[in-house]
Amino acid sequence: MKPPVVLSRGKNSFLVEKFGGKLHTHHGIIELSELNNKSFGESVKTHLGVEYKIVPFNPSEFFKHFKRGATPLMPKDIGAIIAYTGLSPDSLIFDAGTGSGILAAYLAYFNKFGEVVTVEKREDFAKIARRNFKLAGLKNIHQILGDAIIVAEGFKKEFDLVVLDMKDDVAFVPKAKQILRVGGYLAVYNPYIEATREVYNAMSKNEFRELEAFEILRIDLDIKRVGTRTSTGVWHTGYIVIGRKY
Ligand SMILES: C[S@@+](CC[C@H](N)C(=O)[O-])C[C@H]1O[C@@H](n2cnc3c(N)ncnc32)[C@H](O)[C@@H]1O
Repeated sequence: MKPPVVLSRGKNSFLVEKFGGKLHTHHGIIELSELNNKSFGESVKTHLGVEYKIVPFNPSEFFKHFKRGATPLMPKDIGAIIAYTGLSPDSLIFDAGTGSGILAAYLAYFNKFGEVVTVEKREDFAKIARRNFKLAGLKNIHQILGDAIIVAEGFKKEFDLVVLDMKDDVAFVPKAKQILRVGGYLAVYNPYIEATREVYNAMSKNEFRELEAFEILRIDLDIKRVGTRTSTGVWHTGYIVIGRKY
C-alpha cells in the first residue's frame, strides 16, 4: 500500500499524502507511520482509541479531497457533461478555465487514451490544480497558463469537446466553433440564468445544433428510523448549455 490513501470514519475522511507525521482529527491524533505496515480495509487508531478505516483514494473523491482555489464543478454536473456529450476515452478536450482542476481531472480520468488541454489565467489557481493532478496521478492533462481566448488561437479544428466554466464564455463561443471537429460538442456551465441565456443565444447565432439548456438537481433522502423523506436541502449549483457542431 502506497500513499495517497484515505482514512475514513462515518462522514469524516482524510486524504493522507505521506506515511509520516501526525494527523489531527476530531477524534484524536493518528501517527501516520503506522500506515506503513497496514493494508486497505484495516484500521488505524487515534491516541484516544478511535478507529479510522484505510481505503484507497478513488476518483469519486477528487471533489471531496482536492485542494480548492476557484469554485469547482460538482460531480452531478460533470456526470451530465460526460454523458450528454458522449465522451469517449480517446478524446481531445479543451477545458477553460482550469480553476481547481476538478472538472479537468474527471475528464482526464474518463479519457484514458486521450488528452485534456486545460487553460487558466490565474497562476495561483493553476498551481493548485497542478498539485491536484499530480496527487491523482493524471498524466494526460496539458496545463496552459493564459487567457483561453488567446490560447485557443493556437489550435485547429481538432477538439472533440470544449468545456467552458469561466467568465467571457460568450466571447469564446465563435472560437469554440473554430477549434471543434465536425460532430464535436461545446458544453458551457454558468451559475446564473441570465448568463446561461446569453450563452444559449450566442451558440444559436453561431449555428450550434441540438442545443439544450438544463439544470441538474440532486435531492438527497433523509433516511431515519421513523421513515424516509426528501431532504430539505437541494443541491442547486448552476446551468449547463450543450450544443454540437455540424
Ligand atoms: C469557476 S472556475 C472553474 C472551476 C473548474 N471548472 C473546476 O471544476 O475546478 C473559473 C476559472 O476560470 C478562470 N478564468 C476566467 N476567465 C478566464 C479566461 N479568459 N481564460 C482562462 N481562465 C479564465 C478563473 O480564473 C477561474 O479559475
